[in-house]
Amino acid sequence: MRINYAKRLNRMPRYIFAELDKLKEDKKKKGMQMISLAVGDPDIPTSKFILDALVKEAADPKNHNYPSYSGEGFYKEAVTKWMNKRFGTNLNAGANVIATIGAKEGIANIGRAFVDFNDIVLCPDPGYPVYANGTVILSDGIAVKMPLFEENNFLPDFDAIKKNDAKKAKLMFLNYPNNPTGAVCEKKFLENALDFANEHEIILAYDNAYSEFTFGDYIAPSIFEIADLNDPVIEFHSFSKTFCMTGDRIGFAVGNADIISGLGKTKENIDSGIPVYIQKTAVVALESYKDANRPVEVKKIINEYSKRADVLVKGLNALGLKANKPKGTFYIWVNIKEKCLDCMDFVKRAISVGVVIAPGIGFGEYGEGYVRFAVIENEDKIKEALERLSKIL
Ligand SMILES: Cc1ncc(COP(=O)(O)O)c(C=O)c1O
Repeated sequence: MRINYAKRLNRMPRYIFAELDKLKEDKKKKGMQMISLAVGDPDIPTSKFILDALVKEAADPKNHNYPSYSGEGFYKEAVTKWMNKRFGTNLNAGANVIATIGAKEGIANIGRAFVDFNDIVLCPDPGYPVYANGTVILSDGIAVKMPLFEENNFLPDFDAIKKNDAKKAKLMFLNYPNNPTGAVCEKKFLENALDFANEHEIILAYDNAYSEFTFGDYIAPSIFEIADLNDPVIEFHSFSKTFCMTGDRIGFAVGNADIISGLGKTKENIDSGIPVYIQKTAVVALESYKDANRPVEVKKIINEYSKRADVLVKGLNALGLKANKPKGTFYIWVNIKEKCLDCMDFVKRAISVGVVIAPGIGFGEYGEGYVRFAVIENEDKIKEALERLSKIL
């Protein structure tokens, strides 16, 4: 029998990162030690206080039953306290909070909950690929791109969105600090975004996965410093980068009770929640915040990535590439248009000297002409990567 995929799966664009994996593997087989700066997976180990909590909680058999679908009460309480402490918001636990299996799962399932066949979803481009793929395509919707141009500080222009698209849009994604550009936004921008969402009755899904990942004086806001819980807004958070817990698969969303309830109803029919021992561990991580400031463990992680970003940016500039240190995330988004028009070609050349980076086109058509470096190797490795890149530049 011929196995046919569902039409929606056939609409999925080619997965560029899988192609790169193949090139990388070929090189590895030939004995080359690769330096991978492609994937946003922190190399810094998870802090000991978190690992200790995990070991303790995992050893307790009481923590191995089915969890509650929307998250344990104690988890939602801890999330609420953290949000209020960190952002000065005034949220209540319960109907406004839901636990997610990492931010990614919540982002994808919000589509199933609110997007019908041919509904429009406004997606930043370049952007985290899950918005246009996992959310929109798997919900049979239509992604309308909001281009993020460098000359506009990688912020979308709401006035440039066609009236008809805005009218028909059901959902809009925004993400600052931004993957892949490293851009951040000010509260004024969030006010405009909220006005736009309210005017056109669009659900605003604000992806704040990198809220803690900022450098210097910049502190990332929550959309709930502007919006209230009656607004059509949901905000996603993640433990992955802040606490180096990518593999523990836990996150949360807060927002309008009807939106949270729609996401909850979807999830109830798909997954059975996050292991209780992981939720208990995540609470220990959140409680390391004593006030709005990042605790020492988080600061250490951010400082390390900040130092690496300095080294990489300086080195890239010395090689004649226009790179700037971002205010947030651990990504350096580099305009390579003067060196090479095709970012895939640039990435292939980098792989030929043993350096793996992400092509901008992997994040959408407006990512062409850019490549993304993630500073997930130590300074020595970054210097070696620069040395290798000097051979192709
Ligand atoms: C912008 C953005 N949102 C969400 C996620 C997903 O985070 P999580 O690991 O919590 O699923 C990522 C991960 O790279 C991301 O870059």
